Amino acid sequence: MIQKREHWGSRMGFILAASGSAVGIGNIWKYPSIAGQNGGAAFTLVYLACILVVGLSIVIAEFVIGRNTQLSPVGAFEKLAPNTSWKWVGFLGVGSAFAILSFYGVVGGWIFKYIIMSLTGGFDTLAGSPDTAGNVFNTFITGLWAPVFYQVIFMTVCIWVIIHGVKGGIEKWSKIMMPLIIILLAVLAVRGMTLPGGSEGLAFLFNPRFEELTASGIVLALGHAFFTLSLGMGTMITYGSYLGKKENLLNSALWVIFLDTAIAMLAGVAIFTTVFALGANPAEGPGLIFVVLPSVFPQLAGGTVWGTMFFILLFMAALTSAISILEVVTAYFIDQKGWSRKKATIRFGAVITVVGAFCSFSLGGGINITGIFGISFFDFMDGLSSKYMLPIGGMFTAIFILKKWGIPNFINELKNGMDHFNVPPALIRTLLTIGAAVVAFIIFNEIYAVFAGKALIG
Ligand code: PHE
Repeated sequence: MIQKREHWGSRMGFILAASGSAVGIGNIWKYPSIAGQNGGAAFTLVYLACILVVGLSIVIAEFVIGRNTQLSPVGAFEKLAPNTSWKWVGFLGVGSAFAILSFYGVVGGWIFKYIIMSLTGGFDTLAGSPDTAGNVFNTFITGLWAPVFYQVIFMTVCIWVIIHGVKGGIEKWSKIMMPLIIILLAVLAVRGMTLPGGSEGLAFLFNPRFEELTASGIVLALGHAFFTLSLGMGTMITYGSYLGKKENLLNSALWVIFLDTAIAMLAGVAIFTTVFALGANPAEGPGLIFVVLPSVFPQLAGGTVWGTMFFILLFMAALTSAISILEVVTAYFIDQKGWSRKKATIRFGAVITVVGAFCSFSLGGGINITGIFGISFFDFMDGLSSKYMLPIGGMFTAIFILKKWGIPNFINELKNGMDHFNVPPALIRTLLTIGAAVVAFIIFNEIYAVFAGKALIG
């Protein structure tokens, strides 16, 4: 079963693919809305601290494990710790990929629908009326087949990219889409800043309002750091497994977190300057993107262009993340089961699409398989993966290096590509320990909240 492993074509291609995975709906949809609701820059400061202390070390940890083993998560843990239970951390990652992509694909479908809607002038009747926009959005997502139709389109594009492989699919499209995302966002941000009143949006995003930062906002910042950097499910292990020994992993990880953070900030600027200039409600939360923006864009000159641009860039961001999630599943069947890429991608892309259809049905289509728990299947998959599976996966990855594989082995691998750099073992040990401890606390806090009805913090 020895097949030659595919590798990235260039260092730039790898960095763009990995940051394409990181930059997604989390940056453009989740970050601005949760920062807006949790104290603006006060939230951002906590979030940045989490990214630098916890995020950076786990990104590096995943790259190192992937490059060392040249395998996706299940095989990687099995290779480094044969005949132990550690491979279950890999299986947890494959499971997380299923859970995340099922609802992520549904949101990807909504975005596609909004591109079409914007292009065909559908936002015009929503001008200045977020209530109407809210009704339109709700009617659409609670419908039975329409959202599934768009979800299938999104998933088909995703499958199509993955079938073309690491270099010819993932890398090629990331190299095209990432620069476009940055350019389009920058144009929208400049447009927003030059609107009269737009700078109030900057104040909203960048003035720290510490009185609005609650303990639960802090926990949220930690959890979001994981989600936004695609950590804890082996995405970065898988992408790292397509690397050669020349790559400087510290440098690549710094690029990924820099691009991820910069794009989240740029999205915040583009969105809040526009929302403030037109006097809409900035604290709308999740509805900010699908409800407030469609009612705001048509009030601008050339609104159709701005609206369409925004949803196209959001679509590309969602797609480069979705392909990284599907790649984890595909790589498992290629590496461990010897399947062809095409067979693995089509079969499991289809299975995830079907599970995703049930996420969509649970929002109003009348079929909700988690209904007995009083929660929609969509929210169940979202909560299960981002609150539990990703942090647990990340925590075990850190513990694996600390307790099983060992810091010296880890450093030996990390040093490839960074010849003149002395990595202090104590620093690595401290960072990984802080990462594992912090995550253990978040998970404990979540579980405690479920059983005690109230969190320890938040
Ligand atoms: N990082 C992606 C985002 O911000 C989501 C993601 C999570 C992608 C986990 C891959 C793995 O949207």
